[in-house]
Amino acid sequence: MAVDFHRPYIDALQRKSKALGLTQQITALLGDMGKFQFQPQTFDVIWSEGAIYNIGFKAGLTMWKPLLKKGGYVAVTEVAWIGSDVPDKLKAFWNSAYPHTGYRGQSCRSSSRRVSAGRVFHTSGIRMVGLLPSN
Ligand SMILES: C[S@@+](CC[C@H](N)C(=O)[O-])C[C@H]1O[C@@H](n2cnc3c(N)ncnc32)[C@H](O)[C@@H]1O
Repeated sequence: MAVDFHRPYIDALQRKSKALGLTQQITALLGDMGKFQFQPQTFDVIWSEGAIYNIGFKAGLTMWKPLLKKGGYVAVTEVAWIGSDVPDKLKAFWNSAYPHTGYRGQSCRSSSRRVSAGRVFHTSGIRMVGLLPSN
């Protein structure tokens, strides 16, 4: 199941999956990932690459957690500082453009990233099993 609320992307995925003979494996759904209507415990894995920020890291995890089957996984990418010398101008931009990030105003050290990401997962009822990049 693939979800996006931008119709051209869904249409493109449908065309590609048809061309590759994968229409049985892929369902492309036009919809809002913040308003899923799926039954609880529907998915083994929820994968969101470069998209959860649209509804917020914590809000997305909290909304999607009930949709995971017992023992299921969620894999997400999220904005985070991974360097130690971020220019003030960039910090100011991201802190204002994406205020709901769990990393706002925090240090760039990976141990801090791990703790703050782990906290967001924990408060969403999900145990964090990994964080990349790991250093
Ligand atoms: C930065 S793109 C990432 C797309 C893709 N996952 C990738 O890695 O190339 C973010 C995508 O999220 C979609 N999007 C944003 N808000 C959404 C929402 N509330 N529901 C569904 N899709 C949404 C946008 O249309 C866009 O395709």
